[in-house]
Amino acid sequence: MLYLLAGLLLSAPTVLAEPRNLKDWSTPIVLDRSGGFQIGGVIKQSPTDPARTLSCDHGYMEYFIPWEPRRTSVVLWHSSSTQVWQNRWDGGQGFKDMFLRRNYPVYLWDGPRVGRANWACEPTSYRPEYRDQDNFAAWNFGPSFGNWWPGVQFPADDPAAWQQATSARYQEFDTYDNVQLHARVAAVAADSGKVGKNIVYMTNSAAGLRAQLTATRSNTTNIKGIFAFESIGFVFPDNVNITDTRGGFGPVVVPLEEFKKLAKVTTIQFFWGDHRAANEAGVVQSRLAAQLINQYGGNAQVVMLADDPSLKGSTHVAFADLHNAKVAGLLDQILNRNGLDSYEGSSDDWWWRK
Ligand SMILES: *[C@@H]1O[C@H](CO)[C@@H](O)[C@H](O)[C@H]1NC(C)=O
Ligand SMILES: *[C@@H]1O[C@H](CO)[C@@H](O)[C@H](O)[C@H]1NC(C)=O
Repeated sequence: MLYLLAGLLLSAPTVLAEPRNLKDWSTPIVLDRSGGFQIGGVIKQSPTDPARTLSCDHGYMEYFIPWEPRRTSVVLWHSSSTQVWQNRWDGGQGFKDMFLRRNYPVYLWDGPRVGRANWACEPTSYRPEYRDQDNFAAWNFGPSFGNWWPGVQFPADDPAAWQQATSARYQEFDTYDNVQLHARVAAVAADSGKVGKNIVYMTNSAAGLRAQLTATRSNTTNIKGIFAFESIGFVFPDNVNITDTRGGFGPVVVPLEEFKKLAKVTTIQFFWGDHRAANEAGVVQSRLAAQLINQYGGNAQVVMLADDPSLKGSTHVAFADLHNAKVAGLLDQILNRNGLDSYEGSSDDWWWRK
């Protein structure tokens, strides 16, 4: 601990930053209701006593419904923890409040065994590892621990912000079986109608793979969008000579007929932050996945955020970065372009739908 703090102080400016003004909004959040529910679990019978059961492996959905909601439900799907969607790392407004203020119903999802859905059917274990320093580079705050990218949209002068970021973690279970379990349960949630009939997933990191697979498992057209921030892992059809590695980060190969369901999703966006080379494996996979989705009539794009000068400095978690209001503005445009921003009870959306 002492070592860590010393390292941070050495790399930080000697004068601490002025406290930031965190209130950058002018409208209230007006809710009709909020709550949560378990969904998609199983009831296991005890092998020794058939009268005894265990209800387990469900997901947990927390929801916030505005007083005058739009039709699209924004489902915020974390990889590390729900906290990434709740605030910027300096404590400022996160996507949860931003999209509530825009009158979107907002859902916070914890997949089976993770976060508030940790009531597992199988034994799980937590092994502490000294990995704070790995988070720094993995989240693309800089090339190595304590070495910030120039212009990074992270409050690099605020040790408390770094402490928030690195401690906001749950067990993630990046195994093939867990990816499959999450997709199965999320598809049950999507098809249930309890998350609305127009779902846009906003995902981070390993959740992107799970959301793509969910769309191939769903039997309804409720999933209308996937906005994946730095998806680690992509889904491919079984006719393109790509090997399913059976690992936790893809590629996951599905039958072509299931893959084609991704082409039915109104819009799929694969976002990358700064410092992602065109030949980086994940970027290459995202381009191929988008190309295949589009080949079957879909609407998928790869977006390098740094191509827009106002979005430079984006990390692995652009929606929690200091410029997250601008990132949300980009999503506004995409939602609008795809007819996903209409209000319930309005008829103003029919003429611009595809
Ligand atoms: C979709 O239908 C298939 C085939 O009937 C079924 O196996 C699967 O469980 C269904 N998916 C969901 C999410 O209900
Ligand atoms: C499929 O991929 C493997 C491994 O990359 C390669 O050796 C093989 O030639 C490929 N087959 C076809 C038909 O492209």
